[in-house]
Amino acid sequence: MKRKATKRKPIPLVPPAIRSRKKARQIVTTFHKLEKEADEVSSSTAPDKQARLERLERELDEMGGREAYQSASLLSVSFHNTSKWVTKQLAGKLGLRPANGEPPLRVLEVGAINTRLLDVPWLDVRAIDLKSQHPRIEERDFFSLEPAGEYDVVSSSMVINCVPTAKGRHEMLVGYRHHLRNGGHLFLVLPLLCLTKSTRTTRESFLETLSRIGFTVVAKKETPKVAFFCLRNTPLEARDVQVGGSSLATKDGGTRGAGAEKGISRKRKHGANDFAVSP
Ligand SMILES: C[S@@+](CC[C@H](N)C(=O)[O-])C[C@H]1O[C@@H](n2cnc3c(N)ncnc32)[C@H](O)[C@@H]1O
Repeated sequence: MKRKATKRKPIPLVPPAIRSRKKARQIVTTFHKLEKEADEVSSSTAPDKQARLERLERELDEMGGREAYQSASLLSVSFHNTSKWVTKQLAGKLGLRPANGEPPLRVLEVGAINTRLLDVPWLDVRAIDLKSQHPRIEERDFFSLEPAGEYDVVSSSMVINCVPTAKGRHEMLVGYRHHLRNGGHLFLVLPLLCLTKSTRTTRESFLETLSRIGFTVVAKKETPKVAFFCLRNTPLEARDVQVGGSSLATKDGGTRGAGAEKGISRKRKHGANDFAVSP
């Protein structure tokens, strides 16, 4: 008797990563909270500093550490395909896809947890992450790289929001600029909540900050959860400076941009985060 063909489920090579978005969100939130707290404790002079750091370290280990965090991130990657957006912009609107025989574009991918960009044949990608998940991804802290203005493209997807302080985020953006050649492009992706639910940042103030640093917006898009920016590294003398010369940085490290002028509440709202970027 002929057996009815049944569709077999492919057997995964590795155990499936976290499947529940709710669980993944919890892990990501807890990880960021613990990292932020550890950063604050590290720079404090509290007498119990060491004990507190050890406790935070234990809590991080208990939740599975950076590995669990990256597994949780892998789930969210499937909901925002940054590499698709990057290649689409480069090959389409920007017209930068090299012709046959031309050298590939040089790309620095920061916070890489898959090889999607590495697999694009017309890109020459150096992919780094604090914790490498793949032999082609270099285990490296972005802040330890020496910038040489050599890249055509920097890709940073959901990374800036992992940096615990406003100053660190600012340094990261300035660093991206220093890694890019003049006219090079930064693809910056971050959770939309950072711009819509923060008590310290709005879309407008964030764009002002980017402009101050030396980036011009070439393209942007938003999905219900994610903001995508394609930014050009513009020589300071050539860019259209939209903001006057005085520093708008506030004492608490927030950026007093258009948002502050519109009277954003300084009080933390329930569920709102305090994302900010400032020197
Ligand atoms: C939320 S995951 C995002 C991964 C992926 N790019 C995406 O779009 O979903 C953030 C990644 O950035 C990495 N990361 C954070 N700070 C970094 C730094 N200073 N240098 C290199 N990688 C960093 C983390 O280890 C993590 O793997």
